[in-house]
Amino acid sequence: MTHTKLFSELSLRDVTLKNRIVASPMWQYKGDNGHPTDWHLMNLGRLADGGAGLVFQEGTIVSPSGRGTVGDIGIWDDAMIPEYARIVSLIRENGAVPGIQLMHAGRKGRMISAADGGGPLTAEHGVEGWEDWEVVAPSALAHPGYPLPRELARSEILSLVDDWIAAARRAAAAGYDVLEIHAAHGYLIHEFMSSASNIRTDDYGGSFDNRIRFLTEIVEGIRSVWPASKPIFIRISVVDGVGWEIEDSVELVKRVAPLGVDLIDCSSGGMTGAVLTASTYGYQVHLAEAVRRETGVPTSAVGLIAHAQQAENILQSGAADLVFLARELIYNPNWPIDAAQKLGDDNGFSVANRRAGYFLNRRASVMPHFLPSTFPSPDDV
Ligand SMILES: Cc1cc2nc3c(=O)[nH]c(=O)nc-3n(C[C@H](O)[C@H](O)[C@H](O)COP(=O)(O)O)c2cc1C
Repeated sequence: MTHTKLFSELSLRDVTLKNRIVASPMWQYKGDNGHPTDWHLMNLGRLADGGAGLVFQEGTIVSPSGRGTVGDIGIWDDAMIPEYARIVSLIRENGAVPGIQLMHAGRKGRMISAADGGGPLTAEHGVEGWEDWEVVAPSALAHPGYPLPRELARSEILSLVDDWIAAARRAAAAGYDVLEIHAAHGYLIHEFMSSASNIRTDDYGGSFDNRIRFLTEIVEGIRSVWPASKPIFIRISVVDGVGWEIEDSVELVKRVAPLGVDLIDCSSGGMTGAVLTASTYGYQVHLAEAVRRETGVPTSAVGLIAHAQQAENILQSGAADLVFLARELIYNPNWPIDAAQKLGDDNGFSVANRRAGYFLNRRASVMPHFLPSTFPSPDDV
């Protein structure tokens, strides 16, 4: 038995994660007019029970104009706080730290989810009130294949900053322990950051300082309402394929970390082309490594992290402090329980809940070779 890095604790401010495995935020397209449903309770609950140290709720929308699809969930109303408090309790009772990702889809809004056919929402889809759903962005430039957005007035930008802060206040009231600001993947904050989507001539466009102003105001505002004892993460596209490079991300991180940001979740892309098409294991790990090395700020790696030893190697190499998994946890929400077995970690089946762990240990004792990684030989069956 060994003590692995994957199953070692990490403390950020006063929050301690029992291991380094994070359930990455994943839109479920199962909200009801912005409200979470039993689906969200079940899905986040099973991810917690599967053993991840930190379970993120999907990109949760800060104001109605920021919805990407009709099934998105939001946190724009105080009446939603008790609904999220229930999810928070369930995640915590099942052994994980509850996290929430906040987002606004910007010009990538008013869409049909890819699994439902993709493309912009139209009258044909029969969604009541769809024509009143206005898509907004820093500039009236469409993302290819998406609706043409309306340019935000300066006063609207200020009120959107307030929406982010109010959403963070609600998230704190609901009890989440980690808050992640989604500033990646071509959504609203990223649209401000990139000169490919932001051609404004006021103090929110043009220079680097101006393009990151929306984000820095959001970070400052959120830090003032989010408990000092709890960490804030930011997800960025470290490179976006349309001009934003690692050097820009390094400069950005040096600017936002002193405002009270604890970890940078290093993703990429989303400004052009299809997403989630990379087919190389750990295709974004080098981005987490570069940001961590150049800034000294903790990072997380995400993207085709599929194998236990691969995840362990990423942490051992010093490229990142956490590993985020998305599609692998759809495939197997119990991936962390399985990973502890495959690595021979001394946590063993205690990664599972106490009752499940008891029976998994019984199962292992009657069938010593019956580990997930070993196929029985003809002699065994
Ligand atoms: C169904 C699905 C929904 C997703 N929703 C979000 C989201 O709400 N916020 C976000 O930042 N990324 C989202 N992503 C991206 C994942 O968090 C992750 O970065 C990406 O899938 C790469 O990790 P993987 O190779 O482990 O899937 C989503 C991915 C999937 C598959």
